[in-house]
Amino acid sequence: MANENLGAARKAKFDEFYTQYKDIEKEMNAYLDYDKDVFRDKTILLPCDDPEWSNFTKYFAQNFERLGLKKLISTSYAPDSKPKELDLQLSLFETQNPKFDKMKARSSGKIYTLTRDTTGDKKTNVEDLEWEYLDGDGDFRSAEVTALRDEADVIITNPPFSLFREFLEWTTSTKKSFVIIGSTNAITYREVFPLFKENKMWFGNGFTAGNAYFASPSTREYAAGVADSNTGLIKFRNVVWLTNLDHGRRHDELTLMTEADNIKFSKHKTVKGIGYPTFDNYEAIEIPFTDAIPSDYSGVMGVPISFLSKYNPDQFEILGLAAGNIRGLAGIPSKINKDGPYVGGKLKYGRIFIKHKKAK
Ligand SMILES: C[S@@+](CC[C@H](N)C(=O)[O-])C[C@H]1O[C@@H](n2cnc3c(N)ncnc32)[C@H](O)[C@@H]1O
Repeated sequence: MANENLGAARKAKFDEFYTQYKDIEKEMNAYLDYDKDVFRDKTILLPCDDPEWSNFTKYFAQNFERLGLKKLISTSYAPDSKPKELDLQLSLFETQNPKFDKMKARSSGKIYTLTRDTTGDKKTNVEDLEWEYLDGDGDFRSAEVTALRDEADVIITNPPFSLFREFLEWTTSTKKSFVIIGSTNAITYREVFPLFKENKMWFGNGFTAGNAYFASPSTREYAAGVADSNTGLIKFRNVVWLTNLDHGRRHDELTLMTEADNIKFSKHKTVKGIGYPTFDNYEAIEIPFTDAIPSDYSGVMGVPISFLSKYNPDQFEILGLAAGNIRGLAGIPSKINKDGPYVGGKLKYGRIFIKHKKAK
């Protein structure tokens, strides 16, 4: 159901899902626990944001001093560029501000910046955010926002789901650090998977139990049945944090049994007493569950895509992917590239091919 909602939202180009403060805080804490200076002296850009709705700007503005930021920049998208049915009300913050411009308020994006104490209370925080209308509508693809990307050290946001591919390309075509929210469906895209393979992107720390809850001004239309009746929040199961910043969980070693012990003791019926079949057309063994990876197998293994949430680059090497209409990516021989991986004459969709760095 939740995934159908995401599909429906994508179709309607409905992107108004707002991240909760506690999820942002929990995720950023994972990077800070690993390196307390990860954001120190950095310029952080929060594109596709809207401080009146969004918690990203609030979190980074409130923690500006503690994190030692150099500059915080947040940009928002013009109301007139959003789906018409939203009919967003302008906030008092904007309409009562001397900078308020009735036309621009609808057609222009906004930029918020924070660099220093402006109120004179000797603290740099959310009260010191300064804002202007942008020249354009705040589209991340505009030259104006792209120049801000180039100025920034770290790009952080929950981007529009309907433009995820473009947003990821916009972000990763630079050498910038990033922390963004995205759908697990994107993993197998031809241009996305190589980023995992080459260790240029990995899963972040993650949402609690893999469930992401977002606020939305339009819960009825896209979330009938999944909006929590108490909170009005919408649940997504297939949403993850994606990043190139390091964190502790990424280096947790997956505890595994040997091949012999798996065959004797595995909790999986398809492994216990049976072992691992080899692919018909590729020299690799088929592992149906990540926790059934044998610790002592030194050859190539085909594992489910969910393996990525447990991927530790010190423990494993990723060789390639065969999923859906992607029949193998770099590292996989041409035969399997063309036909896909077969076991006992049956095509296995969604397999990542990996090797232990050191089988033990
Ligand atoms: C998933 S929401 C997340 C908002 C906010 N970053 C948060 O996490 O709370 C994505 C936002 O991007 C905006 N958006 C849609 N298309 C955009 C574009 N081309 N450029 C910039 N922002 C866009 C949407 O209007 C929406 O407010």
